[in-house]
Amino acid sequence: MDAEAESRTGSAAHRRTADYSRFTISAVGPTAGESVVQMAQQQAGRTRGNGDPVPAAGSAFLRVTDLVKSFGSFTALKHISLDVRAGEFVCFLGPSGCGKTTLLRAIAGLDPQNGGTIHQNGRDITHAPVAGRDFGIVFQSYALFPHLTVERNVGYGLVNRQRGKAEIAARVRELLALVGLHDQGHKYPVQLSGGQQQRVALARALATSPSLLLLDEPLSALDARVRVRLRDEIKALQRRLGVTTIMVTHDQEEALAMADRIVVMNEGLIEQVGTPAEVYRHPTTPFVADFVGAMTFLDAEISGPKRLRLGEAEISCSDDRGLMQGTPVRIGLRPEEIRVRNVDGMTPNRLSTHVAFIDFLGSFCRARLELEADRSVALTADFSANLMRDLKVEEGQMLTVALPPESLRVFAKAS
Ligand SMILES: Nc1ncnc2c1ncn2[C@@H]1O[C@H](COP(=O)(O)OP(=O)(O)OP(=O)(O)O)[C@@H](O)[C@H]1O
Ligand SMILES: [Mg+2]
Repeated sequence: MDAEAESRTGSAAHRRTADYSRFTISAVGPTAGESVVQMAQQQAGRTRGNGDPVPAAGSAFLRVTDLVKSFGSFTALKHISLDVRAGEFVCFLGPSGCGKTTLLRAIAGLDPQNGGTIHQNGRDITHAPVAGRDFGIVFQSYALFPHLTVERNVGYGLVNRQRGKAEIAARVRELLALVGLHDQGHKYPVQLSGGQQQRVALARALATSPSLLLLDEPLSALDARVRVRLRDEIKALQRRLGVTTIMVTHDQEEALAMADRIVVMNEGLIEQVGTPAEVYRHPTTPFVADFVGAMTFLDAEISGPKRLRLGEAEISCSDDRGLMQGTPVRIGLRPEEIRVRNVDGMTPNRLSTHVAFIDFLGSFCRARLELEADRSVALTADFSANLMRDLKVEEGQMLTVALPPESLRVFAKAS
């Protein structure tokens, strides 16, 4: 079995020295899944009783330092450093090819790095073989064994560890109950839906109570409705288990909904690390601003302290990032932040616009607003259904809008 296959099944983890026998598996009953929860919490260092170092709340459980990974002359990871705290749910978010999977695989030891170090739970695992690491992994493609039943897929790693039959059966029952598949154990993967298969993969990854759960785009092969449901389930499960989790995704909505912190990556580098609210509200680079959520960018120039020249208009911002007068900048603003209600003579940053077109998107409408002073400059604005009805916004009309100063993110042009 190759390293990847081993890691998928968890069998590699079973041959390592960590002792799972200290955990007792409770009988399945009304509290099915609780012992799994306790085991995972113990592994995550939330509870004591095993003699292992207990990471202090908020300390780095996983520390990646100066990681470099090259494929031939191409450098896929360029000196990546990152701390993941115990029990945290972290998403690696970025466009295709930015290095998300490469970083995840380096953490798992599947594609060893060329430089840098990785520490997990205080242990230097930089050069540890896959079999010597403590993680469970789920891939986009499920990667279940087609010739094994669901039960045997989930219990595969435990069999490899030569656990007793009764113990394995109880554990598998618990895990299947945990992922909502208690009555599906006898089926083969081909008899399950994509969402169910991914639940099996998740149960299998959790079978050994790893202290680190790695998920590589686990939801991207699923249809939209299943994806949202499973996303909520995975998040709730992760919270319950307290298992430190890293999930790769290129879907910003998924990252915003699931992550405690998001690591935004671009071309082998980390652009920003922050909570979903921080990354969304205070993107530190134009790339992050553009990639996470919708953002309109406008060319402007610093015309004074917290003052900007936008074409003919003079507007104010609440943070000019200390840039000098005359500096060319890009202003970023979110479509939902453009104000239309209660705009009067006292409202700062008023602009006359022409409603060029309106896209109906169900619960809201997205409009293209062209500045009256210069029709080549356009803003994207989102209007709620209520607002559309109340103000009777229609294509072709003139509309006075305001750009709240605190909503204007200013980026130096060069960055
Ligand atoms: N085994 C390999 N050999 C050569 N180049 C590779 C290899 N694996 C990845 N790369 C390159 O490294 C870069 C990062 O790839 P990676 O798979 O980490 O991207 P990703 O962010 O996961 O993208 P996606 O969202 O498409 O999965 C890409 O340019 C890719 O072509
Ligand atoms: Mg990938």
